[in-house]
Amino acid sequence: MNQSIPIRTLHESLTEAEREAVEAACSHYEQRPAAAIDALMIVQQQRGWVDDERLYALAELLGMSATELEGVATFYNHIYRQPVGRHVIHLCNSISCWLQDVGALEQHLCERLSIRMGQTSQTGQITLLPNVCLGCCDKAPAMMLDGELIMDLDKDKLDSILDKLQGEGNG
Ligand code: FES
Repeated sequence: MNQSIPIRTLHESLTEAEREAVEAACSHYEQRPAAAIDALMIVQQQRGWVDDERLYALAELLGMSATELEGVATFYNHIYRQPVGRHVIHLCNSISCWLQDVGALEQHLCERLSIRMGQTSQTGQITLLPNVCLGCCDKAPAMMLDGELIMDLDKDKLDSILDKLQGEGNG
């Protein structure tokens, strides 16, 4: 988190639609900070990720400190605090998937995208991130693509997914 960022007013940092959506989320909870993940997701859906300025603005809106909100954002690994690609793959890196050789799939992904885990393909099309157990160990290996769980992964399945994604743009 950049401590030196000039803090502008909420009106400058969040759109009216974002503020309204956050207020609607807050109305579902007794305490406004309980809507932290919802609020972060609202901004992320609009902008692709949550930068420092938006984080400060959300913290103010939720009545919590920026440090507290940063803690929530950091803990929840589907909140992106850095820019990501148009598509985000979360590849499971926990025990059941490792037993099903998810390592070979990771290597295949990295080779096809010419990136390492944690990076985004050069065209900005796909970001590859690790994820702890996705909760479907009986259907390992698994990954999440843009929030959709994909199970029983193998190279063929992965290739057809990548072909489709890369067909949308330039890979
Ligand atoms: S270990 Fe991969 S889904 Fe559980």
